[in-house]
Amino acid sequence: MPRIVYVNGEYVNEKDAKVSVFDRGFLFADGVYEVTTVLDGELIDNDAHLARLRRSLGELDMAEPCPPEKITEIQRALVQKNSLSEGLVYLQVTRGAADRDFAYPKDAEPTLVLFTQEKSIADNPTAKTGIAVITTPDIRWARRDIKTVGLLAPSMAKMEAVNAGADDAWMVDGDGFVTEGSSNNAYIITQDGAIVTRALSNAILHGITRRAVLALAQEADMRIEERKFTVSEAENAVEAFITSASSFVMPVVSIDGRQVGSGKPGPMTNRLRQLYIDMARKSARPAA
Ligand code: PDD
Repeated sequence: MPRIVYVNGEYVNEKDAKVSVFDRGFLFADGVYEVTTVLDGELIDNDAHLARLRRSLGELDMAEPCPPEKITEIQRALVQKNSLSEGLVYLQVTRGAADRDFAYPKDAEPTLVLFTQEKSIADNPTAKTGIAVITTPDIRWARRDIKTVGLLAPSMAKMEAVNAGADDAWMVDGDGFVTEGSSNNAYIITQDGAIVTRALSNAILHGITRRAVLALAQEADMRIEERKFTVSEAENAVEAFITSASSFVMPVVSIDGRQVGSGKPGPMTNRLRQLYIDMARKSARPAA
């Protein structure tokens, strides 16, 4: 079944959706995006995603295509039109179409595109076995806090992982510290039970799932250390995991071919995953 997608004010069949060849998203990766989870037909933590969108736009002096309430309306309409129960709503804003010029155009209208994608997230069977990651130098630009569509470096990292028979790549800065996964935040759990994840800065994306998971961990009296960790510290960890809107909390069971802890998803990771899913389902069905 072809999807109904949204392009600049119109709901159209995906085959009829069009964006200009002069669009700066296409020519300069001059655009930002957000991915919101849909669970039980509801948007999860969407206000936080739209707040981050506003921040990304602001950092790039890019105009807001419309108020956040209107975006939410479009997201909900797409979920409904495509009968989406579980998956993702992708949204992208670019600076718009203009003659090719490195300077920002003065009068371009922002382009707004949204589409849905079906995906099993809460019941993803991979959560039972965990994923394998490799490590690779982080060759991305220096403003990773802005969620831009310039995703070639993480795409290369992901392909390096796939070609090595792994599932994802953890990117490593010039000093040997892990920044984050190709499209997720990275965590380890130390021998003495602390959850360690890199502190917020321009070096990583400020994950919406990260924020929610750390709040849940704190409520559950788990110890959190927001600091850098090296690859060798990760290899000596008892557990490791990633978080994102498209994976929630996903166990990492090997790093560069070396087993993490028991080589199976660990108890703290499993607990955090369950806490997050319970919280998300509750927010999807507030009356239940
Ligand atoms: N990626 N770090 C990076 C580099 C990311 O691309 C993402 C999200 C995250 C996690 O952020 P959040 O918890 O807000 O999803 C961290 C999305 C899912 C993507 O590109 O598809």
